[in-house]
Amino acid sequence: MRAPRKKPTRTIAPIIAGRLNGRFSLHMQADGSIAAVSNDYSVSLGQFSPAAIARAGHLAIGLPLASLAGKSALARQVHALVRRLAQHGLLDYRLFSPRDAQDLVVIEPQISDYWPQRAKLSSSDTVALSRFAYLRRRGNEMVLESPRAGALFRICDPAIAATLAALSQPQQIGKLRKQMASLNLDLLGLLLDSEMLIRLDAKDRDGPGANERDRNLALWDFHDLVFHARSTEGRHANPVGGTYAHAGAIPPLPAVRPPWPGKTISLRKFATSEPASPFAKLLRARHSTRDFDDQHPVTLAELAQFLDTTARVLSEWKSGADADSGPEVTYSSRPYPAAGSAYELELYLTVSNCEGLARGLYHYDAGGHALVAIDASAQQLRALSMAAEFAMDASGPPQILITIAARFGRISWKYSSIAYSLILKDTGCLLQTFYLAATDMGLNGCAIGTNNIELFARMTGLEFHVEGPVGQFALGRGKKGAGPG
Ligand SMILES: Cc1cc2nc3c(=O)[nH]c(=O)nc-3n(C[C@H](O)[C@H](O)[C@H](O)COP(=O)(O)O)c2cc1C
Repeated sequence: MRAPRKKPTRTIAPIIAGRLNGRFSLHMQADGSIAAVSNDYSVSLGQFSPAAIARAGHLAIGLPLASLAGKSALARQVHALVRRLAQHGLLDYRLFSPRDAQDLVVIEPQISDYWPQRAKLSSSDTVALSRFAYLRRRGNEMVLESPRAGALFRICDPAIAATLAALSQPQQIGKLRKQMASLNLDLLGLLLDSEMLIRLDAKDRDGPGANERDRNLALWDFHDLVFHARSTEGRHANPVGGTYAHAGAIPPLPAVRPPWPGKTISLRKFATSEPASPFAKLLRARHSTRDFDDQHPVTLAELAQFLDTTARVLSEWKSGADADSGPEVTYSSRPYPAAGSAYELELYLTVSNCEGLARGLYHYDAGGHALVAIDASAQQLRALSMAAEFAMDASGPPQILITIAARFGRISWKYSSIAYSLILKDTGCLLQTFYLAATDMGLNGCAIGTNNIELFARMTGLEFHVEGPVGQFALGRGKKGAGPG
């Protein structure tokens, strides 16, 4: 008698569904227009047919992305609506098994136009977790994040954490499938597409060298890249800036530290009523100015002098990286101090109003003392200027917005662990140099604490981990008689 044939177990592919994120609801008007509305924010999404509006209702629990693929007018309308919501960052994505509708992961976009894609994987492929990916607790959830990824993954099924642990070593998909019955290839495809996972060549498979092949990534320490991506704007979806997150729970610290109880030596008797030198006077005169006199903008000659005073290369030389060995390294000296004389900071000028210089984006070639025009869309330039205007609560865009960008590898090639902190300290030195030079020239300015690294990357075509913004300064001519403010 023949043994009964074993029934093959069918794996049912999980479903990816787009869902309106919890902070928003859809408001449908009688005329067919739809808006996504939160407490203090509303986004118009356009006009839609009654059938599309009915389908849009499913976005509250999740609309399968596969259902958007059809060619019918209805499918096209719903697709357009879902894409619009995605562009505004208003969707998250559930990956769930149709068997029990339990979420495996929920994907939360971190960049503005993230769209979930499954990278193709075959049994012979070898993959490993990126060294920039990390699991952490957020509230009562476990999230998988990476500064490289366009989305974070909320882990809803503990079996996935076990898969991720296995992927700390390079794993061939075929072999891993045999070891882990629960292995979900759709999820791995999504993780690979978002660069949480890396695909490895045969020669890269073994040992700790199994990392991203990009040399510019090799130069980053883990904590530095996380810090860069999370302390700027553009590559995460967390609140940024003065949110007063602890105002209700923890009292603010005083402006001035209470004195220590020890013996006090008063210095007041040495004080002079007037600043003791022109430099002391300059320090006293320096202040932040956020609104500018657009009838009398900065001139090109003034800008040239400002850049010459603050940022021009004064001399260049070469030296061995190490006293005894190591490659020869080129160095420069400039008017402000910089860690290790690396001078990794570059200046990009968004010019809105400068007499003698056309609007646009320019790089300051500090060696040649020249401005080099860079093609950038008017919309992107406006977005950069408007963000600065917003950060300063100003009444218009700065005449010239100086974006200070770092060539990260220039400094991390030498310094491990402290590279990014050195870059921020260098930025502070340069900002004060800008303030003082502007004041000395009768110009005005203001440092800006936020910068959008993703917008800059898209404007310049430079990858965010290669060269990107670490500080900004608004430069202009203040209105006559306008004091500090
Ligand atoms: C690192 C840094 C970031 C700053 N960011 C902002 C900003 O985003 N918006 C703003 O209006 N002012 C910003 N400022 C300016 C400060 O608000 C200002 O220096 C401070 O209020 C003291 O005023 P004063 O510069 O006129 O002496 C920044 C200053 C620094 C040094």
